[in-house]
Amino acid sequence: MAVSLLAQRPNTNYDESKAARYPLPALLDGKAWPERRAEILKLYETHVFGNIITAKLPVETTVKAQGPNWREVTFTFSGEGKKKAVNVLIVVPPGAKKRVPAVVCLSFTPISTVLAGHSRWPLDVFAKHGFAVITAHYTDFFPDVKQGRPDSILALLPPDETTNAMSAWAWGMSRMLDYALTQRDLDGKRIAVAGHSRLGKAALWAGATDQRFAAVISNDSGEGGASLSRRIFGEHVADLNASFPHWFTEKFKSYSQAVNDLPVDSHMLLALSAPRPLYVASASEDLWADPLGELLALTEADKAYEAIGAPEQTAYHLRPGKHDITAYDWERYLRFLKATLR
Ligand code: GCU
Repeated sequence: MAVSLLAQRPNTNYDESKAARYPLPALLDGKAWPERRAEILKLYETHVFGNIITAKLPVETTVKAQGPNWREVTFTFSGEGKKKAVNVLIVVPPGAKKRVPAVVCLSFTPISTVLAGHSRWPLDVFAKHGFAVITAHYTDFFPDVKQGRPDSILALLPPDETTNAMSAWAWGMSRMLDYALTQRDLDGKRIAVAGHSRLGKAALWAGATDQRFAAVISNDSGEGGASLSRRIFGEHVADLNASFPHWFTEKFKSYSQAVNDLPVDSHMLLALSAPRPLYVASASEDLWADPLGELLALTEADKAYEAIGAPEQTAYHLRPGKHDITAYDWERYLRFLKATLR
């Protein structure tokens, strides 16, 4: 909340009657979906997130600690003469006998808090539904500060000025997936990517750039994530760029005062998950993230799902309450994943 208040412009709009009327950029333009999808992905690279990171970094993995149903694995990446360690936590349902599906989701807090029983990580709910959790502390991939780049994973990759923290977090989730695919207790065909808030934006980008993720979940991702930028309700592109200049590509800043010139909007980001199952959720008091803007974007994205013959693969809920990811949210997500990932 403190962060949200700091980030707000004095003239933030919370009045529905003043939300902008906006023509959205076309999602479908008559081309076959694979071709249109590639175009939209390119637009997102150029204008929002920066180039997709394609370089492969050597990585060594060692199990650092383990318990009956969890293990902490240190990933040591090397590149550009440097090394960087990231600790990944995998928690499987106690007593699981078959390969289990999993959710890759970065954590705002150190991974020790996940095992210690953090409210955002209801391990009992995961266990009940038979899902594993694969997480890491997000700052291990990119410290969430303006000057974070030299200490981020990007410093080990071939220099690319267009990429930034969102890409680093998305890239990190793909590396966690690489590892998950080598694990005998995890079902590599049923691994979803999820994220809350800024990490929901990163999860949408990870799902867009890595189609090995079988499903995508956005929790309260808001501006720069699921909510429509053109609606002008709650957070604005200008707020993102002012408070978090290290998240998106430099070009994104040129839209702070010209959001209608942005060649994309969030319905297109969401559609990049198609035809895979996609769940978007909001919280009723989280007006900064514009719940209605998230729902409207998903409704538009559904048109891509319908056009490619994958209807009814998306879901939405509005949880009463504040900006957060709770046991209630996870309960809905895991039920949805069980029903859609087969
Ligand atoms: C701030 C920011 C949001 C972001 C949120 C979060 O409120 O303005 O865009 O989603 O932090 O990550 O909690």
